[in-house]
Amino acid sequence: MIQQLTRHLADEATTLSFGTAFAAILHADLIIYLHGDLGAGKTTLTRGILRGLGYKHVVKSPTYNLVELYKISKLYCYHFDFYRFNDPSEWEDAGFREYFNADSICLVEWPEKAGNFLPIADLQIFIYFSEPGRNIEIHAGTEAGKRCLTHWQETQNL
Ligand SMILES: Nc1ncnc2c1ncn2[C@@H]1O[C@H](COP(=O)(O)OP(=O)(O)OP(=O)(O)O)[C@@H](O)[C@H]1O
Ligand SMILES: [Mg+2]
Repeated sequence: MIQQLTRHLADEATTLSFGTAFAAILHADLIIYLHGDLGAGKTTLTRGILRGLGYKHVVKSPTYNLVELYKISKLYCYHFDFYRFNDPSEWEDAGFREYFNADSICLVEWPEKAGNFLPIADLQIFIYFSEPGRNIEIHAGTEAGKRCLTHWQETQNL
């Protein structure tokens, strides 16, 4: 079982295509945190993931609405951005807890802004500037996350 993977993403197109490919090993009942500074590429990666999950329309940044919902066949995908939270308790007040359920994939930008309220992540994705591109690191936080990364490694090696 692998716990971690790293990759260089040379440009925006690579972030998108990596996300699209990575979506193949995702499934309902996963929580994914997206860490990285402003402009690192968290939303870009999410666009790629949603494309890979089969979503064909425009993916907006949820910065102003806090969450965008995508329904793809039976799967619900919630894309959160908590950058504008002033206090982690806003997370409870907003009623987001019910979105984290067995039928959904939750992708969360700026999870640190929700403090300890968020459920534990199956996968934590870190994106770092490595000009002119980016580096990505993905860590598994649960057994389900480890299974995803192991599946990714197996299918990449085919
Ligand atoms: N691998 C890459 N190499 C270079 N530029 C990239 C790469 N991936 C994405 N970008 C660019 O970096 C920017 C990332 O913007 P994006 O909105 O995805 O960042 P973000 O991490 O979601 O930021 P925020 O915290 O503000 O929501 C875009 O301009 C995109 O074109
Ligand atoms: Mg963003």
